[in-house]
Amino acid sequence: MNAHVSPGGFTGTSPVWLREPRDVNALVPSLWSSSARKDDGVLHVGGLAVPDLVADVNTPAYVLDEDDFRARARAFRDGFARQEDVHWDVYYAGKAFLCTAVARWVAEEGLCLDVCSDGELTVALRAGVDPARIGYHGNNKTAMELRRAVDAGVGRIIVDSFHEIERLGDVARQLGATQGVMVRVTAGVEAHTHEFIATAHEDQKFGFSISSGDAFEAASRVLTQDGLELSGLHSHIGSQIFDTSGWEVAARRVLALHARIAAELGHVLPELDLGGGFGIAYTTQDDPATPAVLAEQLTKIVAGECAALGIDVPHLSVEPGRAIVGPAMCTVYTVGTVKEVALDGGATRTYVSVDGGMSDNIRPALYDADYSCTLASRVSSAEPVLARVVGKHCESGDIVVKDEFLPGDIAPGDLLAVPGTGAYGRSMASNYNHALRPPVVAVKDGRARVVVRRETVDDLLATDVG
Ligand code: LLP
Repeated sequence: MNAHVSPGGFTGTSPVWLREPRDVNALVPSLWSSSARKDDGVLHVGGLAVPDLVADVNTPAYVLDEDDFRARARAFRDGFARQEDVHWDVYYAGKAFLCTAVARWVAEEGLCLDVCSDGELTVALRAGVDPARIGYHGNNKTAMELRRAVDAGVGRIIVDSFHEIERLGDVARQLGATQGVMVRVTAGVEAHTHEFIATAHEDQKFGFSISSGDAFEAASRVLTQDGLELSGLHSHIGSQIFDTSGWEVAARRVLALHARIAAELGHVLPELDLGGGFGIAYTTQDDPATPAVLAEQLTKIVAGECAALGIDVPHLSVEPGRAIVGPAMCTVYTVGTVKEVALDGGATRTYVSVDGGMSDNIRPALYDADYSCTLASRVSSAEPVLARVVGKHCESGDIVVKDEFLPGDIAPGDLLAVPGTGAYGRSMASNYNHALRPPVVAVKDGRARVVVRRETVDDLLATDVG
């Protein structure tokens, strides 16, 4: 942390990476969807002035830039499709954010879809996504959920335990189906990300360990089950990762197992999935690679490992969620109160309370995640002050943006917009304190369309049967 003195004489405490902006009204383009811009201080997205937009739908609201979402989806599809002699499919990870409209956009842009629950599958099928292009994850799928998935014709089900292999085999045989299966493996990689979103180290709930031999055993058992067709191994090392070295280690270990299965079980697996987890920029600290660069690096890694093992490169896939929807969405709040809080050492911090919080974005509370924000409704000539934006819930950890410079005249009624909230924002939203979950408004070419409406008190009371 840095002791900070602003030109206005304000003293505060800021993290080392946070620099006072030259112009506190300006956007940092790398954090925003491509159509976002400021016009005389007023934020516009998708050709619409945000104050006009929220005059209709109220705040808090998630604003989803449709063209930006589609462009990121295409950038993944095209970036990976461009790799010579190597075939990649891109599965959009619906857990990041899914609704019927988004599922349709994903299909229209030529991507496949990864779902991880019966609810997500229901949305995908309702949107008309081809079931053969759906991959189904989850570490504890019930027999009923598996039956629905097999019955719907889901292309691949990723199995995560020995119990599930038995359960799925039974279901497939009962339905007289032959179900495509991938085995989720744990590569033993320590991904450089928050512990709760790292998934390839050994001591966590997902997957079969490669090093213990469970992953090989799982593949053998799938191969012996009538009704199951083993298409490949699946590895997901974690989320919000910037450095491809984690995938490199994972690919080496997973491909070694892939080669062992061919050598010892006589089964050449046609596919391999390397999961998602590609990081995005939440603040100026983050510098993500483009999909094209990721595609090139991952192709090189896999092709190199396959050459070293003397095997053919399988049909590959990745599952980006955050990197497609994260930057495409921002959240707009209204400021309700502003107060100065004295800190140790004589510094003060400006606390800005907004009309949402941990119920619409749990990530700061859950992962200590950093975000940024900007005044969205007017231009200000006031000196920047170091502020903390907080929500309206009954928890002191209810933080929206931990540290940001905002104009010193920030006041009740101002609109604040937080970029990069598309992934794991609405999808992890809750009704904590009986909050009504905000709408998602898609914007494009100067038009707005509510794709998920705001919850109502009636929605809340509907489940409270008295
Ligand atoms: N594939 C699998 C098997 C996954 O488990 C996940 C994320 C993804 C793909 C997509 O990962 P992405 O590209 O979106 O990072 N709630 C946490 C993230 C949990 C991710 C769970 N699995 C967060 O807000 O950071």
